[in-house]
Amino acid sequence: MALQRPKGTKDHLPDGSPQLKLDVSARAFQHVTDTAARVLERGGAAFIATPLFEEAELVKRGVGGSTDIVRKEMFTVFYFGDHGGYVLRPEGTAGLVRAYLENGLKQLPAPLKLWTHGPMFRAENVQKGRLRQFHQVDYEVLGSADPLIDAEAIWLMVQVVQALGLTGVQVKLGSIGDPEDRDTYNAYLRQTFTPHLERLSDDSRDRLERNPMRILDSKSAGDQALIAELSVKPMLDFLGAEARAHFEAVRGHLDSWKVAYVVDPSIVRGLDYYRRTAWELHHAQIGAKSALGGGGRYDGLAKELGGPETPGIGWAFGIERILGAMEQEGLGLPAAEGPAVYIAALDAEHVPLAAWVALGLRSEMRADFGYKPQKPGNAFREGERRGATFTALIGSDEAAAGTVALKHMASGEQRSVPVGELSGFLLERLSDSQSGIS
Ligand code: HAM
Repeated sequence: MALQRPKGTKDHLPDGSPQLKLDVSARAFQHVTDTAARVLERGGAAFIATPLFEEAELVKRGVGGSTDIVRKEMFTVFYFGDHGGYVLRPEGTAGLVRAYLENGLKQLPAPLKLWTHGPMFRAENVQKGRLRQFHQVDYEVLGSADPLIDAEAIWLMVQVVQALGLTGVQVKLGSIGDPEDRDTYNAYLRQTFTPHLERLSDDSRDRLERNPMRILDSKSAGDQALIAELSVKPMLDFLGAEARAHFEAVRGHLDSWKVAYVVDPSIVRGLDYYRRTAWELHHAQIGAKSALGGGGRYDGLAKELGGPETPGIGWAFGIERILGAMEQEGLGLPAAEGPAVYIAALDAEHVPLAAWVALGLRSEMRADFGYKPQKPGNAFREGERRGATFTALIGSDEAAAGTVALKHMASGEQRSVPVGELSGFLLERLSDSQSGIS
């Protein structure tokens, strides 16, 4: 049997691939990243790219040693002679903050807005929507603790998914307070759960020690039944005065901009660096267990990584999950753009000339050519199949005269155009797409 891709990975494929669905369409993937680029760059974000592997220590300190990601889902990178101290990044934020600190980006005007997209790796139990290599669009802002930045970040996330046409999305907003608030809350949780230790799942018993808040996120039905039975209070009830004021300010901005959200006191998030604002983006048709995206404030992260105190906030969404949601909603993609012109030679002798004319046009427009000679009828059919605006033919007469026989596919009009004038002619006609050839 031919070799197959690793479990929990996807190939994103070009148009025309057999049984192509939106979630594996490379053009859909690119549509998501292009849309994010447009919305986020209009919002003042600059693109950044960081390595796919980082020191394990960075991820451990950033994401947190007690998280499932670090304890169970890390892909360790080994290479000859290496100490095994690298991991494939499970998320983008820790590496991005490292890059900010290491490269002196603090000197850039604050707040600094950055965005990126790329593959992330988590050794998960593979299920629908849960991959081992997935892709995120990630937006981060460093250098401001202003609640206005939180509200703008949420607004931008919503803008991106709306620009993709998604309507069934919902922002679930919460706050996980300041570290002192979390300590108080964790103490409350320990006190609440300890008398019922024997009813907790093994994982949650473990969490009670390391990070009790994670029990609330447990996937075990028994744990969830116990949480309901004990009427466990949410983190929101434990916010200190400052965290509460911050949360109210974020809500005030969102309300005044009419950004729809629901307050979800159960938001805990799966990464340790969060403080204060935390939210998830959900989709009505996909179910509560798999968020399309999530984000939050992480004012302590830079310090945790050895840098100076630097407030930060950001979000990421999973591109595959966004594509799954688009598919659920029956959304399509903008029509694929064909070449401006398809150039065919009528005989083998003139194929290199057709190629040369096409290559010369490519600094201005997309131009395809036929690798084999074609009869006019076949050439026009091929131009049509490729979605070309024009098809050009070159035979002996055209070669001798230094022209092409050009056909405007939509109107059927034809005329002869000198090769030297072809680029200017096409550009003019393309900019006025209504007009045909004359
Ligand atoms: P996260 O909630 O772990 O946050 O991941 C964000 C999104 O990535 C999820 O909502 C989901 O759409 C997608 N995702 C995560 N794991 C998988 C998986 N195994 N398969 C498919 N998709 C997945 C973060 O990663 C934070 N770095 C977000 C952030 C940025 N917070 C602040 N700045």
